[in-house]
Amino acid sequence: MKRLCAFTLLLASWSAVAGEFVDLRRATAIRGDAVAGAAKVAVCVACHGPDGNAVVPAFPALAGQHAGYLYQSLDGFRRRADPASPMTSQVQNLSDADLRDIAAYFASRRRTPPAVETTGDSPGARLFREGDPSRGIAPCQGCHGPAAQGHPLRAGMARYDYYPALAAQQPDYLAARLRHYRDGGPGDTSNALVMRGVARYLDDAAIAELAAWLAATPR
Ligand code: HEC
Ligand code: HEC
Repeated sequence: MKRLCAFTLLLASWSAVAGEFVDLRRATAIRGDAVAGAAKVAVCVACHGPDGNAVVPAFPALAGQHAGYLYQSLDGFRRRADPASPMTSQVQNLSDADLRDIAAYFASRRRTPPAVETTGDSPGARLFREGDPSRGIAPCQGCHGPAAQGHPLRAGMARYDYYPALAAQQPDYLAARLRHYRDGGPGDTSNALVMRGVARYLDDAAIAELAAWLAATPR
């Protein structure tokens, strides 16, 4: 009960400050047109790679990411309009229907397998599966799935389509994102708050181990 109150309070204070807090606990499925989306991504693939398979380490891969997560990520860039992000100018003139179509398109693409695939056990693999209770680190698999393909309950519950798959993502991007959550980057959705709570216990060594294992895990 105490925890629920704290969460509600946190939500309330965020909406008071930012004014645009998005509560994703009742998020619904994203319905977009992948074929229409294909015609809207010419500019995107310049940075995110053919079909959304990025080759530049700082640019995230989008191919095979869940549509809900892609959509809310794009919507977030639009809402925040952060001048420091290269994504702001990309989404400024896109409609909500555009974002849905683009999300559906990239979700339907196949992620290129990693150049070097994981050989199973590693410190990153163990952290991902088991966490490290002595350091307060939660097992990532509870929310991202045992093989980092997405939330285990995603098939039956639309709100878990907003939890990202992490396998075969660019390692530099993964590490940057984890530092960002840990160091208190924008927490303007209920999902971002959840991930911030997890990342606060990760040090740079743990982040490097996790990113290396995830990048080498096929999607
Ligand atoms: C100039 C290069 C560039 C272009 C063009 C570009 N992006 Fe990005 N994109 C980035 C970078 C860099 C990031 C990560 C940085 C950040 O989060 O601010 C990013 C992040 C994203 C993310 C978040 C991914 C995640 O896993 O959270 C999505 C989704 C995305 N871009 C989609 C698009 C779409 C759709 C377009 C075309 C409308 C596009 N991008 C055009 C550089 C680009
Ligand atoms: C309690 C559920 C939960 C746990 C446990 C969890 N995550 Fe997350 N994670 C999320 C949610 C929800 C998001 C989406 C946040 C958002 O929308 O900004 C996320 C987002 C991420 C992202 C951003 C991906 C992208 O494409 O931008 C990374 C990286 C990540 N998590 C890694 C991890 C790692 C590594 C662990 C284990 C140390 C972990 N997560 C444990 C719920 C969780």
